Amino acid sequence: MLKNRINLELDEIKRNNLYRSFKNFYDPNYEHNFKINKNMGKNFSSNDYLCLSSNVEILNTIKDALKYGSGSTGSRLTSGNINHEKLEKTISEFKDTDSSLVYSSGYATNLGVISALCSKKDLILSDSLNHASIIDGCRLSNAEKIIYPHRDVEFIKKILEDDKFLKENQFGNIFIITDGVFSMDGDIAPIDELFKLCNDFNCTLIIDDAHGTGVLGKKGKGSLEHFKIKANENVIQIGTLSKANGLVGGYVAGYSELIDYLINKSRSFIYSTSLPPYVIAGAIKSFELIKNGDYVSKLQKNVSITNKIFSDLKNINFDDKHKTPIYPLVFGKNTMDMSNYLYNAGYQCIGIRYPTVAKGSERIRVSITSCHEKEDVVSLKDEISIYLEN
Ligand SMILES: Cc1ncc(COP(=O)(O)O)c(C=O)c1O
Repeated sequence: MLKNRINLELDEIKRNNLYRSFKNFYDPNYEHNFKINKNMGKNFSSNDYLCLSSNVEILNTIKDALKYGSGSTGSRLTSGNINHEKLEKTISEFKDTDSSLVYSSGYATNLGVISALCSKKDLILSDSLNHASIIDGCRLSNAEKIIYPHRDVEFIKKILEDDKFLKENQFGNIFIITDGVFSMDGDIAPIDELFKLCNDFNCTLIIDDAHGTGVLGKKGKGSLEHFKIKANENVIQIGTLSKANGLVGGYVAGYSELIDYLINKSRSFIYSTSLPPYVIAGAIKSFELIKNGDYVSKLQKNVSITNKIFSDLKNINFDDKHKTPIYPLVFGKNTMDMSNYLYNAGYQCIGIRYPTVAKGSERIRVSITSCHEKEDVVSLKDEISIYLEN
């Protein structure tokens, strides 16, 4: 019975051209590239923005930390609290907050933080293009939800100023939740305006800076640094170790009582084995490198270079205001064909379809890293142009 239903649904997915399958990212030169601390020049699909996943210093740190074992052996509240507090101190310093808490992934962080904080009678205002993990965290909470049009501050303001609506519903706490940098569009949330609204109306702003950390701000601290905002008690920052840090894991940063509350209430934190100590050691090293190295400025330079190179592409225009390494090349229904063409030509440029993005806005999501060379981006642009001309 179940197998029948599974087969029927799979057939339907295939009929609608929405079937997902793996692409092999194995590169015979990978080990060589690892040794020379360089990423694969034709990989434009990774979130390894600072190329730290192949960083020799991090790899050596991880090797040294293997002496603590291959796994953490338990949840943080049982046997799994090893070097984790040291990482949390590092994250708090990096994010300029009192405290922070590490989860097993960014996904688990959004699920665990949002569902623990947003209760019945609370109101969540969530951006329509927020990441799936935020959506799932909101679904798991018992709060009321309003999905606001992408980056629409006026829409939120109208709700917050609507005394009648707020009185009628007698909401407890109000949360505005947004990606800092939107994962499929590469645009930046209006954090300055949202932060002001939260201070004016006494709401809490939750920023998922998965794609902002290591990317935005001179020191790579993320969206708050980009907008020159100092975190206060109306803002909670979420992050992941899986993108610019090149590892795996997630975290939340904020004031001490918030973190204390999550340690006691956040189910994806409490009931899950903590990250292995070697990952934690690698993560501490990655923050040290981001703080002291020139990885962030290299990435930002590559973003400016790419803006110019892509300006040659027909109908696709990223001006100097484009500040992130995520480039949505929206080709609509031709996207998967284009993605396969690029793959066969040796480029890894994954096509993104519904339901990840809206129907009609299918795209190649190109991501640039600090170790791409200008020639890599030019050759990708040339290959895309050839496809478009044929
Ligand atoms: C905006 C955003 N939040 C959260 C996540 C989940 O992070 P992780 O991959 O660490 O689970 C991702 C990426 O997958 C993301 O793009």
